[in-house]
Amino acid sequence: MRNILIRSTARALFRSGGNYHRSFSTAVIVQPRQHQHGGGACGSLYWQRMSTLPEKKDQQTEENKNDAKNNGNNSNAVVSSYWGISRPKVLKEDGTEWPWNCFMPWESYSSDVSIDVTKHHVPKTFGDKLAFRSVKFLRVLSDLYFKERYGCHAMMLETIAAVPGMVGGMLLHLKSLRKFQHAGGWIKALLEEAENERMHLMTMVELVKPSWHERLLVITAQGVFFNGFFVFYILSPKIAHRFVGYLEEEAVISYTQHLDAIESGKVENVPAPAIAIDYWRLPKDATLKDVITVIRADEAHHRDVNHFASDIHHQGKELKEAPAPVGYH
Ligand SMILES: [Fe+2]
Ligand SMILES: [Fe+2]
Repeated sequence: MRNILIRSTARALFRSGGNYHRSFSTAVIVQPRQHQHGGGACGSLYWQRMSTLPEKKDQQTEENKNDAKNNGNNSNAVVSSYWGISRPKVLKEDGTEWPWNCFMPWESYSSDVSIDVTKHHVPKTFGDKLAFRSVKFLRVLSDLYFKERYGCHAMMLETIAAVPGMVGGMLLHLKSLRKFQHAGGWIKALLEEAENERMHLMTMVELVKPSWHERLLVITAQGVFFNGFFVFYILSPKIAHRFVGYLEEEAVISYTQHLDAIESGKVENVPAPAIAIDYWRLPKDATLKDVITVIRADEAHHRDVNHFASDIHHQGKELKEAPAPVGYH
């Protein structure tokens, strides 16, 4: 489909005193999704990368010219100023344009990698043991399926790991509406976790490509897991959070194995994807090892948050009665 260039009235807004400058662009470019081929360990399916690719300036310039040329007879052009919406132009600290639509500079962070990777909640109650055994059973199945394909394993894991935070956050949101009560920041904390997990996935798809049967597995797993976890969380948020805590413990173990494979040379330590460098504020020459290290730190934080949430319920309290771990990842 033809690219559409929408010219809007020039307005500029400069914000001083912060790390970033924002301004409204004089032109908003709506681009079709970019498609790229590349070698991956998981398959050869043509993979759509959605919005994780940076806008390309050269391409935009060329598209601007083409669209300007065709503007006179393009009856499909959309006038953005009708709704007053334009994409703010955001600059990086070095003055270059922020290349991402899927997250903004103020959502990026430097990961705290000083984590205890061996931390484990010893199952005590029946619910704890049920959650622990369930996760261990799923672990056996995934190990049988993926074996030593670390990248594919990580990617599939992230498609599941991004679900509980969204379900928990959504159910707390609905509860807050139903009961006319604050949720103590926990909605935000859980939705942040879901978003953080989704960014892990957006990073992993830059490194590996799923085959058609893996994509089918993701669709099936999401359908089953979303609905199952939704009911699970309604019945017992206490066990549901414990289950996620154990799931995150397994994620920490998986990424530790991934790091070992990189260090031993089994997995090539390729350059980090650009999205990862900007999201975790990594150095420009960061590698896969750096990316896996910060993702593992995130998983350890999710582990702590979910075990903490379960502990709150174990004390007979509601989440809102304890400090919400907003921004804790
Ligand atoms: Fe993750
Ligand atoms: Fe996680």
